[in-house]
Amino acid sequence: MSAPSLFEPLLFPCGASAPNRVALAPLTNQQSEEDGTLSEDELRWLVRRATGGFGIVETCAAHVCATGKGFEGQLGVWSDAHLPGLRRLAAAIAATGALGLVQLYHGGVRSPSRLTGQRPWSASEFEEEREGFERPRAATEGDLEAVLAAFVAAARRCVAAGFGGVELHGAHGYLFSQFLSRTMNTRADAWGGDLRGRARLLREALRQVRAATPAGFVVGVRLSLEDFGYARGLDLDESVTVAQWLAEEGADFIHASLWDVHKSSLKYPEESVLPRLRAALPRSLPIIAAGKIWTVADAAATLALGADAVALGRAAILNPDWPREAQKEGFTPTRGPLSAAALAERAVGPRFLAYLRHFPNMVEEG
Ligand SMILES: Cc1cc2nc3c(=O)[nH]c(=O)nc-3n(C[C@H](O)[C@H](O)[C@H](O)COP(=O)(O)O)c2cc1C
Repeated sequence: MSAPSLFEPLLFPCGASAPNRVALAPLTNQQSEEDGTLSEDELRWLVRRATGGFGIVETCAAHVCATGKGFEGQLGVWSDAHLPGLRRLAAAIAATGALGLVQLYHGGVRSPSRLTGQRPWSASEFEEEREGFERPRAATEGDLEAVLAAFVAAARRCVAAGFGGVELHGAHGYLFSQFLSRTMNTRADAWGGDLRGRARLLREALRQVRAATPAGFVVGVRLSLEDFGYARGLDLDESVTVAQWLAEEGADFIHASLWDVHKSSLKYPEESVLPRLRAALPRSLPIIAAGKIWTVADAAATLALGADAVALGRAAILNPDWPREAQKEGFTPTRGPLSAAALAERAVGPRFLAYLRHFPNMVEEG
C-alpha cells in the first residue's frame, strides 16, 4: 500500500479527525504560571503553531496532580482553577481547525521534592547514578488508585475545556514508563512482575480515561519503544506487545517517540522499528512518529516506514509555519541556531528561550 500524503486528513478510531498529518510534538516550554495556570506566552506559542498549519497541536506534558509535577512552569490540569486557561487554549486551537490534544503526565520518580514537597514514588525503590537523584518509595495501592483517579479527572477537565483529546505520556521514563520498565519496576504484586503486570497501570489508565470521556474524544498514548535517555529497561518486542494491548483497550493512536526516525532498532540493528510496530497493529490504528524530522523528505520517509502522521519538535520551534511552507515547492526549513530576537518573532517567550539554551543548536550564543 502506498503511503498517505502528509496533507490528507487523519481519521481516528473514535471517529474524530485531524485536518492533516503533521503534529506539533509535546514540548515542555516552562511558560505556565507557578500554579500551573496557562500564561499568555504559552497560549501564543501554541496558537502560533496552530495558525502555522499543524493539524494536531499537542500541549507540553501537563501534570495531572500537584505531586506529579516534573518541571518548573509546567502546565497543570489538576484543578478546576486551571479550567479558564485550558478553555481559552482549546478554543483558540479549535478556531484554526487543528485538533488540540493535552499530554497528560505524572513524573513518578521524576517529580522532585523541590517541586512537590514530597519524596517521589515510583513502581519500586531504585537508585540512579545521577546528581540530585532522590530514591523513590514504592507505590502503595492507595497511590495507584489516586493517580488513576487523577488521570481520569484531568481528562474530564480536558473534555470540559473543549479539547479534541488527550495523550497519555507513557514515554521517556516518566511514571507509566517506570512501571513498564524491567529495571525500575521490580514489584512482585499485580502491578509488576511479568509484562502484563508492568503494563497494568498504563492499560488501566487508558481504560478508565476512555470510559470517562465521550464518544469522539481522542485518547492516544505516547510510548518509548526502546531505551533512550531516562527511559530504561524497555525491550522492543515487549513495547510492541504493550502497543497491541493499548489498541485492544481502545487507544486512538500510538505515538512512537523515537528521537531519530532514521535510526535502526537497538535490538534488531538491521531494521527500523516502525515497520515492526505497523505490522503488529490494526491498520485502522494511526501511528504518529517523532524524532529528527526536519524536511518534507524526512516526513515522507517516516510515512513510508509505516507511520500515519509525523510529530515535529525542534523543527516546529524554529519553523512555526512548517506545514504551510512544506506544501510549497523547494521548502528548506531553518535549522538554527537562531538569535533570541528571531525566536521571539516565532512566539518563543523568555522562559522558553532560557530553557532552549540547554539544547544544542537552538539559540545563538550571546
Ligand atoms: C525543548 C523540548 C521539550 C520537550 N518536552 C517534551 C514533553 O513535554 N513531552 C514529551 O513527550 N516529549 C517532549 N520532548 C520530546 C519531543 O516531543 C520530541 O519527541 C523530540 O524532541 C524529538 O523530536 P524532534 O527531533 O523533532 O525535536 C521535548 C523535546 C524538546 C526538545
